[in-house]
Amino acid sequence: MNSDEFRKQGHEIVEWIARYYENIEQYPVRSRSLPGSVKGRLPLHPPSASEPFDNFLKDFDDIIMPGITHWQSPNFFAYFPANSSPPSVLAEMLTAALGAQCMIWETSPAAAELEERMMEWLREMTGLPEYFEGVIQDTASTATLVAMLTAREKATSFRSNGTGLFSSVTMRVYCSSQSHSSVEKGAGIAGIGRENVVRVPVREDFSLDPDKLRKAIDDDLAAGYVPCCVVATMGTTGTTAIDPLRMIGEICSEKRIWLHVDAALGGTALLLPEMRWMADGIEYADSLVFNPHKWMFTNFDCSAYFVRDAASLMRTFDILPEYLRTRTRGKVNDYRDWGIQLGRRFRALKLWAVIRTYGVDQLKEKIREHLRLAKMLAGMIEADKDFRLMAPVHLNTVCFRWQPAGMSDDVADRLNEKLNHLLNDTGKLYLSHTKTNGRYVIRIVTAQTEVQERHVAEAWRLIRETASAISSQGGAIDIE
Ligand SMILES: Cc1ncc(COP(=O)(O)O)c(C=O)c1O
Repeated sequence: MNSDEFRKQGHEIVEWIARYYENIEQYPVRSRSLPGSVKGRLPLHPPSASEPFDNFLKDFDDIIMPGITHWQSPNFFAYFPANSSPPSVLAEMLTAALGAQCMIWETSPAAAELEERMMEWLREMTGLPEYFEGVIQDTASTATLVAMLTAREKATSFRSNGTGLFSSVTMRVYCSSQSHSSVEKGAGIAGIGRENVVRVPVREDFSLDPDKLRKAIDDDLAAGYVPCCVVATMGTTGTTAIDPLRMIGEICSEKRIWLHVDAALGGTALLLPEMRWMADGIEYADSLVFNPHKWMFTNFDCSAYFVRDAASLMRTFDILPEYLRTRTRGKVNDYRDWGIQLGRRFRALKLWAVIRTYGVDQLKEKIREHLRLAKMLAGMIEADKDFRLMAPVHLNTVCFRWQPAGMSDDVADRLNEKLNHLLNDTGKLYLSHTKTNGRYVIRIVTAQTEVQERHVAEAWRLIRETASAISSQGGAIDIE
């Protein structure tokens, strides 16, 4: 592709993206593709001859787009968001153009130093302690694994990296029964073992019960285990429960256990002073992760990982083959020492573009509005006698269930599942579900970059209308 062709196609693509964002509400939010339908349209073998780029664009529209679920639609209320925004997209284009591999300072000093500054900005924006040092990881799962690996090294006096875990004691990791699956996955990968993740029971509001944590740790100590890491969550995946950081922190400090805070979603809300109560006790934390790629309008992937003792982090990951020796070593941040992979994307650029283009004030406004929309919806649900709120609404997620008087719990389970599927099949919105206390619960997350009150109001209208249609047919609507 020569320069003229590149320019022509590039303009086309920017035009395509602008049109996509303008018309995004017209797409079915969740893809209607059936399994195998995309692959079935792709040639079995790669082309040997060159093709015009236009062919690629045409197939992108015809084959790929129908198989896309539109995460950037304001009617996307499922999971937690993976928000993008125009400045983020444009900055990502520049990142792709530069194609810089930012493993060490020398392989792009601007990337390393911008990352350093962006992490300082995020630390200030979220009110985190000044001694936290930060690095951008790809995902919260990786960041939590990084925390656990560092905790493991500290718990074994930095021996397990060298000699392996075979001769060591059995370590334990603690989190609540509501914590994200990445904790279990991380413990498995870290060699601690998934079975050594102690799932501590939660209180009525689904937050970790600190008394039960203390007991679990004491029991383990008595049995000869080595408590290695506690993961507290600021906004659990199911219901956005907030674990009591101060009480957990006091236990960790007393028992000298690494405290990692998984604020993958909730961290963004720390931009708002009125939400900083969630971080009460943060002085006890050894590390924290939050995802600008979830709720801070910075497209996937971008996870902000903060650590109190960066020296321990580096001691865990540092390895220095001859070909990576540089004259600046020790004087600059070589971020390859701050995590698992060697090669690193230039992720700080999109963060810089987002923070500057919105400005902190507008970011706060948006987040505050998302919180308001969740409360508004919760109010509408509470006011309807046929629906129930199933968890406190702290952040942007509302968990509810349709259960008119007289409907048994089991029937409500079945019909709420049906309601969820029927709504998602319309393509007009996309919801997800969880279970609380063993019961089926629908989740609606009001945090998409461009979501407005009218989208939430329409979602609620559709939910009620569909529930009423199920009701009038005696629950017999087919969802297959
Ligand atoms: C609380 C929490 N932690 C971790 C994760 C994993 O995030 P990531 O996809 O960045 O690994 C999620 C994902 O939704 C989450 O909700």
